[in-house]
Parts: sequence; structure tokens; C-alpha cells
Amino acid sequence: MSVSTAKKTAFNVNDLNLWYGNNYALKNITFPIYDKEVTAIIGPSGCGKSTFVKTLNLMNRSVPGIKMSGEINFDGTNILSDKVDLVELRKKVGMVFQKGNPFPQSIYNNITFGPKVHGVKKKKELDEIVESTLKSVALWDEVKDRLDAPAMGLSGGQQQRLCIARALATKPDILLMDEPTSALDPISTVKIEELIGELKKQYTIVIVTHNMQQAARVSDKTAFFLLGDLIELDETDKIFSNPTDKRTEDYVSGRFG
Ligand SMILES: Nc1ncnc2c1ncn2[C@@H]1O[C@H](COP(=O)(O)OP(=O)(O)OP(=O)(O)O)[C@@H](O)[C@H]1O
Ligand SMILES: [Mg+2]
Repeated sequence: MSVSTAKKTAFNVNDLNLWYGNNYALKNITFPIYDKEVTAIIGPSGCGKSTFVKTLNLMNRSVPGIKMSGEINFDGTNILSDKVDLVELRKKVGMVFQKGNPFPQSIYNNITFGPKVHGVKKKKELDEIVESTLKSVALWDEVKDRLDAPAMGLSGGQQQRLCIARALATKPDILLMDEPTSALDPISTVKIEELIGELKKQYTIVIVTHNMQQAARVSDKTAFFLLGDLIELDETDKIFSNPTDKRTEDYVSGRFG
């Protein structure tokens, strides 16, 4: 990859292999994820995109029959072999899923849940977290007068922004997003994409998307996966204009997948 090696990485994934029973789902993946960049992951259904991002905060560690080898170096440790505190890891590596999945509670409680788990008790401090995270996802003006209303009463796009705010409330360093806009209308999608542009000033973001234009719009690096292999990882411009591998070219030009 034609990328400066001097750049700081948030994750250094080295020869990662993952099996679900006999299903070899990730094959020899070596993947540096650069700090304060947006990395997009693309590839056909079933190629291992979700598996890869879930592995970054060990979300899939307790799946029956799972086996992993290799290294995921993060924050000075290899999270695959060293003893890690999962609560701490997930505080640092937040995750947002395909469908906004707020807790069936108030907007306010959705955001304060994580900080409370991590020991924030003072009402004033919690209020500040609620206001600042909702502002950072551009939802504050829409909901500031109904913070005690159920989160389920928000629109799909608002729920997804709330879930991003909830992920930000524990002050993570990394934000993993697995198809965060696939259930949203075009206007909400644009809002989330703009938000990603803002958030990358402060966070390292990894986003899985089936939408090629979205990957091209929001990301710095793009990785193309196929059947558990990382086929190509490079600057997003390069992947979409002049990829090295024929399979990447076929995929980004819509010839298969
Ligand atoms: N919890 C699980 N248990 C067993 N096999 C799984 C599990 N999750 C995923 N797999 C298998 O691992 C492979 C990769 O799946 P994964 O969900 O990572 O693909 P994906 O690229 O995210 O696909 P999609 O675009 O459809 O979301 C598939 O063969 C899938 O069936
Ligand atoms: Mg997936």
C-alpha cells in the first residue's frame, strides 16, 4: 500500500485468522488502521466485513465454536492473547449497528447509561454529556425539549444519531460502524455522512458499507474483502479510480457482488 508508514495506527492487525467452527471466515488479515482516519470496508455479502469489525472490540468472542489466531494490537496490547478487560475495551472502542437499537427508555437515559456504568454520578456532569454528545450528532435542537421522552418515539434517522451519541458518551477513541445508514432514507444518510466527516477530527472510524458512493465520499482508506481475504487496502481514491487487483476493479465497477 502506498501509505506512509510513519503514520500512527489505532489498530495493528497482524495475520488474523478466524473460524466459526469449520467456516474459515477471516484469512491471514494484516490490516493497519490509521489514527483519526475513516477506513471503509467493502465487499460482497458474507465476505467477513461484520466479523472483522466485531473482532476489533471482541464482540464475537463468545460465539460458540469461534477460534481466532494472530494479533490485534491496540493500545499497547494484543487483545487476542493478552488479558483484556472487555468493559474497558468497549469503552475505548464503541460500536454502532445497522439498525439504530436504542434501549426502550428515555433519550436522556440512553445516553447516560454508559457513563453511569463507568462511574459518572453527578447530575450536572451527566447533563453536560447528554448535551454535548447530542450536539455532536446534530440532534440536540430536535430533542432538547423532550429528553425524557421515549427514544423509541424518534424517527429511524434520529434513533441512529442517538445511538452514535450513546456510543460517544463514554468518550471512545474508536468508532466502529456496521452499515450505519443501510436502514435510513437519503436525507438521514447525508446527515450521518456529514457527521462522520465531523467526527473524524476526534475519532478513528471504521465503517462497513455496501454503498460504494458512501465509501468514496466518507473514507480516507478503503479495504476490499472477498470470501474472508483482504484483497486490497489503499487510499480510497486509488481503490475507486485505479485499483491494483482485478477483483477489486470488478467489484467497485459493479461487475460482480
Ligand atoms: N455468529 C456466527 N456464527 C457462525 N457463522 C457466522 C457468524 N457470523 C458470521 N458467520 C459466517 O461468517 C462469514 C462472514 O460473515 P459476516 O457476517 O462477517 O459477513 P458480512 O461481510 O458482514 O456480510 P453482509 O454484507 O451480508 O453483512 C459468513 O460465512 C457467515 O455465515
Ligand atoms: Mg455484515
